[in-house]
Amino acid sequence: MAMQRPTRILAVLLLAAVGCPGFGSPLEEIVEAPSWDDDVAEIMAAKCAVCHTDPPVGGAPMGFRFDKYTTEDIDDGGLLGAFEMRERIDARAVVAGTMPPAAVKPLTGEERLIIDEWISTGAAREKAMEAAQ
Ligand code: HEC
Repeated sequence: MAMQRPTRILAVLLLAAVGCPGFGSPLEEIVEAPSWDDDVAEIMAAKCAVCHTDPPVGGAPMGFRFDKYTTEDIDDGGLLGAFEMRERIDARAVVAGTMPPAAVKPLTGEERLIIDEWISTGAAREKAMEAAQ
């Protein structure tokens, strides 16, 4: 699976370069591994951090918040960020689909795919190309 990913990303880059408008599959809109700064923070702010913040809202558990990338970004010590919680985010929002809770606006297929790709490619803060420059 790890071997196929660069090929898939390359194929998607080519599709993006051709610029086909209104393409159907959400996968085709992902041109490279998603990053927290460019892709994921926005989704989680809208769909997760409304509850998973500090203090938590709506009965959400204490101990973590999803409006921060990592625990190192959080002053009031001890809270985990999305990076540390990535396996649980994957389990609840991608695999089980039980987050956000049913009463709340769900993740779109594209949002779920971006979160999935973000976690499976290492849950980076920045795009690899930006980080390398
Ligand atoms: C309306 C408020 C609300 C929103 C929005 C919400 N959650 Fe939750 N979340 C909860 C509550 C309440 C719990 C505790 C009950 C439970 O675990 O089901 C919880 C628990 C969790 C847990 C901890 C439990 C575990 O399995 O480790 C994770 C991780 C989580 N949510 C992820 C997410 C993600 C990711 C999103 C956005 C895609 C999200 N949540 C959106 C209310 C919310």
